[in-house]
Amino acid sequence: MPHSPTPAPAPADVLWWQRGIVYQIYPLSFHDSNGDGKGDLDGIRQRLDYLAWLGVDAVWISPVYPSPMKDFGYDISDYCSIAQTFGTLEDFDRLLKEVHTRGMKLILDFVPNHTSDQHAWFLESRSSRSNPKRDWYLWRDASPNGGPPSNWLSQFGGSAWDYDAATGQYYYHAFLKEQPDLNWRNRQVREAMYDTLEFWLERGVDGFRMDVLWHLIKDDQFRDNPSNPGFQPGDSEHRRLLELYTTDRPEVHEVVAEMRELFESYEERLIIGEIYLPVERLVAYYGLERPGVHLPFNFQLIHAPWNACEIDRMIREYDERVPEEEWPNWVLGNHDQHRIATRVGEAQARVAAMMLLTLRGTPTLYYGDEIGMHDVAIPPERIQDPYEKNQPGLGLGRDPQRTPMQWDGGLHAGFSTSEPWLPLADDFYRRNVKALAEDAHSILTLYQRLIELRRRHGALSIGDYAQIMCQGQVLAFERFDATERLLVALNLSHEKVALPLAGGTLLLSTHLDRAGERIDGRCELRADEGVILELGGP
Ligand code: NOJ
Repeated sequence: MPHSPTPAPAPADVLWWQRGIVYQIYPLSFHDSNGDGKGDLDGIRQRLDYLAWLGVDAVWISPVYPSPMKDFGYDISDYCSIAQTFGTLEDFDRLLKEVHTRGMKLILDFVPNHTSDQHAWFLESRSSRSNPKRDWYLWRDASPNGGPPSNWLSQFGGSAWDYDAATGQYYYHAFLKEQPDLNWRNRQVREAMYDTLEFWLERGVDGFRMDVLWHLIKDDQFRDNPSNPGFQPGDSEHRRLLELYTTDRPEVHEVVAEMRELFESYEERLIIGEIYLPVERLVAYYGLERPGVHLPFNFQLIHAPWNACEIDRMIREYDERVPEEEWPNWVLGNHDQHRIATRVGEAQARVAAMMLLTLRGTPTLYYGDEIGMHDVAIPPERIQDPYEKNQPGLGLGRDPQRTPMQWDGGLHAGFSTSEPWLPLADDFYRRNVKALAEDAHSILTLYQRLIELRRRHGALSIGDYAQIMCQGQVLAFERFDATERLLVALNLSHEKVALPLAGGTLLLSTHLDRAGERIDGRCELRADEGVILELGGP
């Protein structure tokens, strides 16, 4: 039974972020313009023509604010400036201007949950119990029997409470001890953080990706988290407990609604929420009584087993749960997750690209996935990520998916003139933008063609979606609008298959051949092949 189609918005009402494609840049690893081995803002600016050629609409850059870099920018010490390693505010303005000149949008990362312990607010807060900013963070006395006030655990290992001997209390940090959590129940904190958002909105930034949004509010009674029956040996330590009292508290929606209200006073600015929750709780972030974020990141493809029927089930469930007036979105990878080419293999990474760029909803691409970059093994002496350093040997480290972009086959892959901060993949001499852009059958060419097709066909970017079938490892769905019907058929296996099909013309294969082939009654899919067909015709 085909799933009932989801209604598409009228084309005139479609906003840029609904029609568009987002591209995530991890700035330390994109392009180094000053030869220090680390990427920077001017480096991004120099590569904008590439992004325009690729066809993406918006660029999201991970944090570029001043930071001690304990968590590589997610520990911010000043929300209204640019870290020296990335450049200056002038560089930022220049980048923004040039992004806009090319008709693209710029999305910044915002880290509301925690600051760096070097932020002036925290330095004041920890200076004494009576400091006016004491309540800006979460300070508590030891529990009655001594030790941390509750059993809450840090995502990066160990207790989430750190003892401050000078003032005799503990402060809470969901991540590193150098990343103290702000107290979002405090009105002054909210106002101060909204001011920082306005600083960038006034400068012309088109939107924000908001870090760990579901963490903002913690239980006001600081109750212990229950243990997690699903904990497996080898999991990160914090998974021993269910985060019942530390995340997704009902009051968080009130904060999100306030943020949205602020954004509404500007034109067409976007809020994307980083939220890792089961889909039924995730969709609540579209807003409950009041509007929430525009796009709560949908990470399901990252965690899904690579199985056609499982993915089909997931797509349908998501489609049913996203409120009718809201807009879906899909993500394949980011700086915290193993790369898609590593997760599903080189051949299936092409099928995944077709899936991401044909599903209904805004796609977010992670830099380098378009050239099939895979996780890079990091020698122990070059490990950077605290997640790996604090809990070694569990495979938690995120450096492998953060390695430098591979631009050409020359010195340091064209990324820098000196040794990059993380090692390069050893296949960069052949897997690089320059070589793959000239190769008519490369994954990069596929990405570029998929994006072009999505832009050309309203049915793909903003059209309706209807489920067609899932059989074995084949997943098929339709995208359509008033003028056309397209069928996407994806073979998630390494075996060839045939499926019954009404007539159509093949527009694009992941193998980058067969375009124009007429299909009548039966469509053959080769191993690891996905196709897009235009249905109908003679
Ligand atoms: C989520 C970010 O994506 C991740 O990189 C970071 O370590 C944590 N938030 C803490 O800020």
